[in-house]
Amino acid sequence: MLPTEHQRRAYLDALGIDVWVPRDAAEPEPDIADAEPVPESADWDTLRDAVAGCTRCALCESRTQTVFGVGNPDADWMIIGEAPGAEEDRRGEPFVGRAGKLLDEMLRAVGQGRDRAFIANILKCRPPNNRDPKPDESAACRAYLERQIEMVAPKIILAVGRIAAQLLLDSDAPVGRMRGSLHHLGDIPLVVTYHPAYLLRSPTQKRKAWDDLCLAQRVIEGARA
Ligand code: URA
Repeated sequence: MLPTEHQRRAYLDALGIDVWVPRDAAEPEPDIADAEPVPESADWDTLRDAVAGCTRCALCESRTQTVFGVGNPDADWMIIGEAPGAEEDRRGEPFVGRAGKLLDEMLRAVGQGRDRAFIANILKCRPPNNRDPKPDESAACRAYLERQIEMVAPKIILAVGRIAAQLLLDSDAPVGRMRGSLHHLGDIPLVVTYHPAYLLRSPTQKRKAWDDLCLAQRVIEGARA
């Protein structure tokens, strides 16, 4: 079977090749304005099904499966990363590669294993070649994450990495400037830290990530006091 235009573009995108497509020759992109809105009252099963069948952006053409999120739906800690990588796309679970193992260790160090926290990503589908999410992709996925945040109602959100922090806080500041202080998403406290993949490359920064986790822990303890 011949590849669709979306598949061809996703493939060229994965190779980092820009293609010029005449406006009238382009296959229509999935129109997110026409996509079913996420019902405000969607429960976990409804939301999970909506994500599993999502065609709001072109990433649906290249994914193996969606990566919904994992963990305790009543968690105190909600961890939000960028997007699934190759291993996550294969297994359908966020943060299961090398970076995920480091994230697990970091969370265990503050008493929040994978089963106690809730872990999700800005995007539920893997961008080809692990490129950064495009604005239309994160916009298309936003309602799913918002409903997840609403249902978990965490005491703290930990945004891991530049992309998650910038998109959640609508900022273009670097992580180094956003970490180390307390932010809010609505009325939920939010702490920014380095992405574990970056920490694998720059282990000397692990100390700062530890400080960020301690800040998050102090916020929760302050809320309990
Ligand atoms: N990086 C992320 O930001 N999320 C994952 O799920 C895996 C790697």
